[in-house]
Amino acid sequence: MSEPMNRDVHEANRRSWNAATAAHNSHKRDQADFLRRGGSTLFPEELGLLGNIAGRRLVHLQCNAGQDTLSLARLGATVTGVDISDEAIEFARKLSADTGIPATFHRADVYDWLDAARQRREQFDIVFCSYGCVCWLSDLDRWAAGISAVLVPGGRIVAVDFHPVALMFDEHLNLAFPYFGKGEPLQWGEGVSDYVAASGPAMTPSGYQEGVQSFKNPHAAYEFQWHLGAILTALLRSGLRIDQFCEYPFFNAAKLYNDMREEGRRMYPPDRVPSFPLMFGVVAAKPDSNKA
Ligand SMILES: C[S@@+](CC[C@H](N)C(=O)[O-])C[C@H]1O[C@@H](n2cnc3c(N)ncnc32)[C@H](O)[C@@H]1O
Repeated sequence: MSEPMNRDVHEANRRSWNAATAAHNSHKRDQADFLRRGGSTLFPEELGLLGNIAGRRLVHLQCNAGQDTLSLARLGATVTGVDISDEAIEFARKLSADTGIPATFHRADVYDWLDAARQRREQFDIVFCSYGCVCWLSDLDRWAAGISAVLVPGGRIVAVDFHPVALMFDEHLNLAFPYFGKGEPLQWGEGVSDYVAASGPAMTPSGYQEGVQSFKNPHAAYEFQWHLGAILTALLRSGLRIDQFCEYPFFNAAKLYNDMREEGRRMYPPDRVPSFPLMFGVVAAKPDSNKA
């Protein structure tokens, strides 16, 4: 298999995510207890798009520290989580052991894992990813083709992510970043931030605790501004069929702009700003020729 583009960039992101994940988890009170008592970190948007997952084989790509992966396992799926961050996967494995919720976690670059799974002829009913996945991908076509290859016929990818339009704005809601990123990495010198501390209780369903203060990430991070056309075209080019596409005028839990209006765990732009899409959801299925 060919090398993923920008492996150096992926490795830089691994270091940045290792540092940030430790800070993020420091703010979340006893997560094992929360999950053991039946708590879930999932939101209604992904639950609605996923539907009934009981008995399904599900792989959660870019699963970070595994809280959503284990919440999915609690719904009856057999789950595998994949993430490039050592810190995240170590935490996820411990959380699985501490809660007794079974899951398999792999520390790997998503491109390497998809290649290896295809070679092992591993197959899944559902590929899931959410809340900050697409922006870390350096090659959308290769990502979509890899996903298509590990899906059974009739299987589907469910993704809920930040909308590319929302990612054009800085925290002051100034138009700051290009919509058409053309696959060029955008460098964040300050690295992955402690957005969990900035978002507070909405992002910590197990309870917020002070944790790491004034976190400064020593490792720069690199993101990609993929526009919607590029994301949907990559899925279509890989042979998947788009079954659902949704846009939402709020972020779930993430306070990415100043002065966001909170409605429960939903974050809306301030009232003075006209509505625009903050998240999107997509379901794309691998056609089953036996059912054509
Ligand atoms: C914003 S988090 C996703 C949050 C996740 N949905 C959850 O359940 O918490 C983005 C994740 O992407 C991972 N990541 C970034 N680049 C990656 C790559 N090339 N391969 C695998 N994981 C990657 C990071 O380590 C990080 O955990």
